Amino acid sequence: MSLKIAVLKETRADERRVAVVPSLVARFAKLGAEVVVQAGAGEAARFTDADYAPARIEPDARRLVADADIVLAVQAPATELAAAMKPGAVLASFVYAQKEPALLKALRDARLSAFAMETVPRISRAQSLDALSSQAALAGYYAPLLGAVQLPRILPMMTTAVGSLRAARVLVMGLGVAGLQALATAHRLGAVTEGYDVRPETREQAQSVGAKFVDTGVDARGEGGYARELTPEEQARAREALTRHIQQADLIVTTANVPGRAAPRLIDRAQIEGMKRGSVIVDLAADSGGNCEGTVPGQTAEVGPATILAPFNVPSLLAQHASELYAKNLLNLLELIVKDGALALDLADEVVGGTLLAHGGEIRNAAARAFLQSLDKEIPA
Ligand code: NAI
Repeated sequence: MSLKIAVLKETRADERRVAVVPSLVARFAKLGAEVVVQAGAGEAARFTDADYAPARIEPDARRLVADADIVLAVQAPATELAAAMKPGAVLASFVYAQKEPALLKALRDARLSAFAMETVPRISRAQSLDALSSQAALAGYYAPLLGAVQLPRILPMMTTAVGSLRAARVLVMGLGVAGLQALATAHRLGAVTEGYDVRPETREQAQSVGAKFVDTGVDARGEGGYARELTPEEQARAREALTRHIQQADLIVTTANVPGRAAPRLIDRAQIEGMKRGSVIVDLAADSGGNCEGTVPGQTAEVGPATILAPFNVPSLLAQHASELYAKNLLNLLELIVKDGALALDLADEVVGGTLLAHGGEIRNAAARAFLQSLDKEIPA
């Protein structure tokens, strides 16, 4: 009997992505599985149910998951759906356990093997499963485009019969996966580009996509390839070095994040006040609170001379490609845990073990476990 892989329709208002795209159905089936897709799952990404043929279409979410061996989604599914899955089944989606205490308990109590895609370890072998990276790359690509259409100016240098227009200056702050793509897009569009990060290894990476690196002399390399939080002294030093670059920019893209914390403040109101009238900031850290004073997460705000865009869930705006890359991340995960048409989870495998949030009635992720324990303590006996 073959495995059943169920693909859920997303329910969050701003979510247009889908966990599996039609062109990959055959690849998932090749694992020795029947693929069943919830009716309308691809609609928001402009895939019809018919596009998913030969996958079976199931209209009812509870029926879909009840006998599934593997359930795939983009966002964490509703707690009731997780609770309706069969014990031992696999769930793979973004989870962000700290926001989902009820779901976390349901995953544990239903004895599911739940993979949280935001926790794929950042090691070379896991790159093909790294959903944070695949989605950040697209968000980074898109940010300068979102900003460019708000600018009352153009990005490239343009020579016309009545004279030349100067190329715009684009500053990207935070040169992780998204920031480097943002620099690449801005460069392709003809802007003069500058990049800044607290991890010194990003200097060469910025230069490789045609940008100048703004050196503040601050080194804040943290663990696992991420940055650590800056001390107040380091913050002051960085601020001083950056103000001139911020105020010369026409368009700024900010992407800075520190795992497990609110996004760091990179630009304050006084710096914004000194920007050119009509300048635009695209704050890609909106989902974790934003990098700028004056950012209103999820909205567009006028702050002094500048406009700050802070859209939520930017990858979802590129739903087809974002879904395609995410589906490939999931396929690469399943290739690790399905052997000869059956589930075979090797918990000793660093990638499998590191991504597995819940398994066999236990919460395996240490941070999520501590979070649940802290909640249980809050409830008086
Ligand atoms: P992220 O989304 O956590 O942060 C974005 C950027 O903000 C980072 O480059 C970080 O250094 C920077 N940042 C943090 N605080 C800042 C501050 N105060 N000022 C300026 N910049 C600040 O990072 P992301 O994009 O998820 O990845 C970061 C790095 O992790 C990558 O560049 C890479 O080196 C590593 N990585 C490794 C992978 C692997 O080996 N499988 C996969 C993906 C990333």
